[in-house]
Amino acid sequence: MPATVIVGLQWGDEGKGKMTDFLAEQVAMVVRYQGGDNAGHTVVNGDEVFKLRLTPSGVLYSHITSVIGNGVVVNPLTLIDELDMLASRGIDVARVRVSRSAHVTMPYHVALDVANESRLGEAKVGTTGRGIGPTYGDRAWRLGLRMEDLLDRGVLRERISRALPDKNLLLKGMGDPTFEVEPLVAMAAAWGERLRPHLDDTTWLVQGALARGEHVLFEGAQGTLLDLDHGSYPFVTSSNPVAGGACTGGGIGPLQVDEVIGVIKAYSTRVGSGPYPTELHDEIGAGIAARGHEFGTVTGRPRRVGWFDAVPLRYAVAVNSVSSITLNKLDILSGIETIQLCVAYELDGRRVETWPSSGAALSRATPVYEDFPGWVEPLHDVRSLADLPENARRYVSAIEGHAGVPIIFVSVGPERTQTIERAWRPMRRRAGLPG
Ligand code: GDP
Ligand code: IMO
Ligand code: MG
Repeated sequence: MPATVIVGLQWGDEGKGKMTDFLAEQVAMVVRYQGGDNAGHTVVNGDEVFKLRLTPSGVLYSHITSVIGNGVVVNPLTLIDELDMLASRGIDVARVRVSRSAHVTMPYHVALDVANESRLGEAKVGTTGRGIGPTYGDRAWRLGLRMEDLLDRGVLRERISRALPDKNLLLKGMGDPTFEVEPLVAMAAAWGERLRPHLDDTTWLVQGALARGEHVLFEGAQGTLLDLDHGSYPFVTSSNPVAGGACTGGGIGPLQVDEVIGVIKAYSTRVGSGPYPTELHDEIGAGIAARGHEFGTVTGRPRRVGWFDAVPLRYAVAVNSVSSITLNKLDILSGIETIQLCVAYELDGRRVETWPSSGAALSRATPVYEDFPGWVEPLHDVRSLADLPENARRYVSAIEGHAGVPIIFVSVGPERTQTIERAWRPMRRRAGLPG
């Protein structure tokens, strides 16, 4: 029962979309298991660039069933736009399945997210403003709407009427416009009609594929350091991007996962607020940001940029039970004279090698760096580790040493082909092909 989880090991935007698309060629199904349209996964195929927010990054292949699992929060407006965009570009979207149990992001969730951030002022989380926190909040509070509810006006009216008074009170208190029940019911019912053909019991879809021996890929959104439990709370997202989230949000049990591929990039970025010990405020950081096009896919905000941090890497490998790693964007570091790698923190006068669970502690940590001589050669055309400049190989080996698990891919450009495949246990087989 081959199930592989692809999980971000940093603060998101590690290149999960590229790697999911790269591996999807060989699998039958790709499943998103958490997050919502706060995600922005970029897939580059020749001249074509696709920026996917909700649809799994396997959708570009016609043989793939793309599944939006129960753990995802779905803004139907975004999903409908995305399906239309894909269809208009010749992609078959008939095989996109959406869990009937996935929760719906309503306009009042978006309004509350935005209003709350502005109320927090300096203390804001720096959310993507997509209503993610309020939607997951309502799910936990059992006030949410599920995708299947969109199919029944009576249920919609009942659920919206139950949730709305509190939302309106909050919005009014923050000086924002309020919502009325009936227009929301009409809008949601129209979404339901449009999305009806895509709704499914995705747990059995996934279980069925695994029972037939098909390979299923679970595509995480965000990253481990934004995890609601494992990141620097409150500067986190509201779901569990970690590999365990693939179980709760994708419809499988822990023993059904046979590989966890952790995705990292050769430096780090972070969008939004929160402690970031290795953040760069100098020209080197600006150069990396420019070469790496480090702007948020969803909000267009400049991403904060810093050196690679091996302290959370070791933590992320542990909490995800990462079995192998893909290291992306190594090409962006070409031309830097000295590359710094954070190996520990100095915290309250002590050297600390473990990721502090407290955000307050993290904000007091200063990085302890190991220096690596850089390289000047461009890497875009390199296709084997042996052809990398020696200094690049040394840097990759150092990261691998800290991770304690093999780096199986090194990515040197956004294209599918710009990938070094190394020590890779090939995925078993593609759907429909004999083993
Ligand atoms: P995700 O959210 O983890 O899927 O990552 P994003 O798509 O938000 O950000 C990664 C960006 O880097 C995208 O624009 C990718 O096309 C691009 N990218 C991925 N891998 C590489 C690489 O190895 N080199 C370069 N130069 N760009 C890459
Ligand atoms: P992908 O899947 C990077 C960040 C936001 C903010 C925090 C909470 O493309 O890697 P939210 O809107 O989720 O309530 O915001 O999480 N964030 C991301 N940062 N990549 C993402 O997704 C992100 N999704 C959310 O910037 O700091
Ligand atoms: Mg992204």
